[in-house]
Amino acid sequence: MTTLKNSAETSPAKVHSLQALDLSQIIEPVKDDLLVVEEWLETNLVDDNPFIAELLSQVFRAGGKRIRPAVVLLSSHASLDASRPFSRLHIILAVLTELIHAASLVHDDVIDSASLRRGQETVNRRWNDRVAVLMGDLLFAQASICLARIMNPVVVGIYGQVLGDLCAGEIRQMRQQFSTELTFPDYIKKSINKTASLFAAGAHSGAILNANPDASVSALKEYGLNLGLCFQIVDDLLDVIGESNKMGKMAGSDLRGGVLTAPALYLLEEKSAASKRLEELVRSRDVTSDEGSEEALSLIRNSNAIERTSDLAKEFANKGRMSLLTIAPSNYRDSLEALLDYVLTRAN
Ligand code: FPP
Ligand code: MG
Repeated sequence: MTTLKNSAETSPAKVHSLQALDLSQIIEPVKDDLLVVEEWLETNLVDDNPFIAELLSQVFRAGGKRIRPAVVLLSSHASLDASRPFSRLHIILAVLTELIHAASLVHDDVIDSASLRRGQETVNRRWNDRVAVLMGDLLFAQASICLARIMNPVVVGIYGQVLGDLCAGEIRQMRQQFSTELTFPDYIKKSINKTASLFAAGAHSGAILNANPDASVSALKEYGLNLGLCFQIVDDLLDVIGESNKMGKMAGSDLRGGVLTAPALYLLEEKSAASKRLEELVRSRDVTSDEGSEEALSLIRNSNAIERTSDLAKEFANKGRMSLLTIAPSNYRDSLEALLDYVLTRAN
């Protein structure tokens, strides 16, 4: 068995800079638009059946950071020229992006048998899997109605592709469970599918509605893709070093479920005693137990894997920053850039 370094010696929290930025300041330029998005969710997600109404409110009552709608609104403004107004269609685009995200989390919690989301019991835990699957479907249906209202076939195609990507990402992840043969390209591909694809759609669809030139549309798509990858890598890092009460969901659940993400992959790459032990814990499925997952987490936390994962997230943040260079300067573009730093430093 490997001797672990004292955890006070290598504090993972220190490696992942915790100078978290203030999200409300970053999204200030679209504060009013976000209120309209919130109002839409409150007034349209209703049902005369009290049980369905309660389910709908459970999903949105818990809040959420609303990063995806903020990206849609900021990039829509950043790509508007003086001849076009910001319109209701941009709001609907932000709403539909949040609906798809919320729906996919309801389904994800079924797949992961998760009991906590946004600090609340999940729909599958409070009721059951069947209710949760149908609840997710109901939200996807609402998203389709929004998509129809946008009346742009290119945007319909983009979001149709996203739905396929989300499913493909989850299937890839399922097929890779407990596999220590997983490679970094596999991991990145899965992360693009399950997370970055929706960020990319949200970041460039506004520019399509604004009839932007192809170069700006591509730049914003690239920005969204890199922001999404950065987001997912930090999510995977927080699963190893984060605190359940801050995150509103159970930390350590990736490894317990046999899902190997960047921190575990970096340690496995080392071919050290610690990496051999991690491999053993995963292959034997001992990581599914309390003791096994704690040991695996300690091995990772006390290795270079935390720092390397943090550096990987920074690499994608920098690529995102570069993508923004071709977008005209504005306070909206500044906020898109600041969001990259927020995502890098977030603790939940
Ligand atoms: C969270 O992953 C999950 C996602 C980002 C996407 C989930 C997508 C699906 C379940 C497919 C959706 C279905 C349709 C019909 C499009 P995570 O488990 O790593 O994050 P967590 O820790 O927040 O749970
Ligand atoms: Mg999950």
